[in-house]
Amino acid sequence: MKFFVDTADVDEIRDLAATGMVDGVTTNPSLVAKSGRDFIDVLKEICDIVPGPVSAEVTATDHENMLAEGRKLAEVAPNVTIKVPLTWDGLKTCRVLTSAGTQVNVTLCFSANQALLAAKAGATFVSPFVGRLDDLGLEGMELISEIRTIYDNYAALDTQILVASIRSTNHLKQAALIGADVSTIPPAVLRKLAHHTLTDQGLAAFLADWQKSGQAIL
Ligand code: E4P
Repeated sequence: MKFFVDTADVDEIRDLAATGMVDGVTTNPSLVAKSGRDFIDVLKEICDIVPGPVSAEVTATDHENMLAEGRKLAEVAPNVTIKVPLTWDGLKTCRVLTSAGTQVNVTLCFSANQALLAAKAGATFVSPFVGRLDDLGLEGMELISEIRTIYDNYAALDTQILVASIRSTNHLKQAALIGADVSTIPPAVLRKLAHHTLTDQGLAAFLADWQKSGQAIL
């Protein structure tokens, strides 16, 4: 499974990219606004740091302007992936952009039927939001299973499932067990993946014993 990092914070992206674990980045208008920086400047910097897909979302809601915004954002760097919302205008825009060779991430997906439409529109990625479904008392991961089954039923559907709105390390594990193609992970959750209390305890015990031995490797 590919790991994308879900942030527009350039310092976080640089720090996490150094681990070698970051295959791509997703941003959205809220994350860009939170960064307090100019969208195009931030996008350029992120694309320089991470060679994989970097999602940049349009903010127009009609097809014509979505297309114009998408084309402008796609000019920023070859690894920009245009993010469009899962509306009819977004799907139309997806079709035009992917036909021209631009990668598209269809976002704000909350149902299996929506994911089917995204795939039929030629989306490179579809982003189902698991956390926001969980917030409503629903089971976000059930949606990922449904989409996996549908896409696997039809070889012609090659859209990648990009699990979004991940809130916990358990979400990530479930996404991997289901066989999602990509997870976009908030930096804090990504950092937690390596943590285990028994790892910390075991390391402390090994180092204490090593110190008692009086030896050094270097
Ligand atoms: C990513 O593409 C989404 O915009 C993001 O994962 C949404 O996460 P949230 O529901 O925690 O805002």
